[in-house]
Amino acid sequence: MRKPQQTPAQATTPYIDALLGYRTRGMVAFHTPGHKLGKGAPPIMREVFGAALLAVDVAMAGGVEDTRESTGLVRRAEDLAAAAWGGERCFFLVNGSTSGIHSLLLGLAGPGDGVILPRNAHKSVQAALIFSGAVPHYVEPTIDPLWGIPLNVPAERVAAAVAAHPESKAVFVVSPSSNGVCAALDAIAGVAHQGGLPLVVDQAWGPHLRFCSRLPLDAMSAGADAMVTSVHKLISGLTQSSAIVARGERLGLQRLESVVKMTQSTSPQALIYASIDAARAQMATQGEQLWSRAVDNAEWLRARLAPLEGVRVLSDEVLGQDGVADLDRTRVTVSAAGLGVTGYELETALRDDYGIAVEAADPLNVLLNVTYGDSHDDVALFAAAMTDLAARRRGARPLHGAALPANWPRFTRQVMTPRDAFFARSEAVPVEHTAGRVSAEMVAPYPPGIPIVAPGEEISDEIAAYLSEAAARAMHVHGPEDLTLKTLRVVS
Ligand SMILES: Cc1ncc(COP(=O)(O)O)c(C=O)c1O
Repeated sequence: MRKPQQTPAQATTPYIDALLGYRTRGMVAFHTPGHKLGKGAPPIMREVFGAALLAVDVAMAGGVEDTRESTGLVRRAEDLAAAAWGGERCFFLVNGSTSGIHSLLLGLAGPGDGVILPRNAHKSVQAALIFSGAVPHYVEPTIDPLWGIPLNVPAERVAAAVAAHPESKAVFVVSPSSNGVCAALDAIAGVAHQGGLPLVVDQAWGPHLRFCSRLPLDAMSAGADAMVTSVHKLISGLTQSSAIVARGERLGLQRLESVVKMTQSTSPQALIYASIDAARAQMATQGEQLWSRAVDNAEWLRARLAPLEGVRVLSDEVLGQDGVADLDRTRVTVSAAGLGVTGYELETALRDDYGIAVEAADPLNVLLNVTYGDSHDDVALFAAAMTDLAARRRGARPLHGAALPANWPRFTRQVMTPRDAFFARSEAVPVEHTAGRVSAEMVAPYPPGIPIVAPGEEISDEIAAYLSEAAARAMHVHGPEDLTLKTLRVVS
């Protein structure tokens, strides 16, 4: 797939250059933060972060002599990013794609407005619905029974939702999914636009897509009106760095800008901005070679894992399944269920026995990100670890339903809006007695942070049983007040 040509201006990095300039000038700082360029920082901070980093930990206003409102330095860096990612406008974010999702939904839909959403959307969507008062009209993704993960949403199902809810304000999809499974974004953009709706894509897991011809189609090339991408997830941004990229044909860029400001700190971390600036330039100028190397390493790893008995790797067999247009092959989902090992056990074994830290684990699988930051030796270490593990566990009984409920319970009914349910009078009820009640809370196993139940949804027997089992197995969840899941708040 040919990727857009980038301009020579993409080699420039105005924001990080300004930060460097600030350090070089050796200013006396009477501004935040209180550690004053590291001079007052406790020794442990100096040891861990280094003097060079603390010397550029400055607030934007006093520090880099720029604010969004003044010299336009941030805007210059954002404009370069907008061009690189294929939009008209970009907004740098310091609180991850989470805050981008809040901004986009708040900007597009208010109380009572409908939004077409995939049921596998990240948990941040639920917060956005509570903030805005919007009403979700869900499109169900197919859940792959073998892998126990949501795949993606087919364009036909999105079309049916648009036809059923023509008064909606936007279509929202997640692509790639957290396992790298990509939706047919061009077809979905067609469906949304035919219905007169903007398409917003959660491309948290796709900041790299636009920069290498061996990676799937990116949201803006597919015709999306806006996307949010986590610069920190797969390219070189510091943790929490993220960006919204938008074009103004179907959504108001000025309104978007004002909601972005509402959801961001008034003291954005300059290091985060600088890292977005540098990461964007790195991708625009070297993305093709860097990611080509990552794809080669990932393919090599896939080929090494394929023959191991009891080990499976999510690969091309998902292509062509309901809702799946492509797979980012640098995201490597691995299961050792055939060796009797759950995803959580595999994560622990890899960490404790082989010194390998994975991106995520779920009941059946672990997930690896292979990027340009990995050497061939790194992926070879993983291949060797899995080969050793497979040899040690040869003959072990495969998992059959022994893992946590691998299949996601089916979505039931939205009985109240998420906001109404969240603010309604509620009571904490033992999870085993919640069937038939309306949830006032979200429960999202983390990772991947996709809610099993969300505020305003009816709790089915299947969901109640899932929650009870999750509680018994001390599953790690986000959302409910009682994180042990002994009780759940339901609407009184
Ligand atoms: C699909 C998806 N969207 C959004 C987010 C939120 O991204 P961030 O961690 O940058 O806030 C995540 C986080 O894991 C995610 O998986």
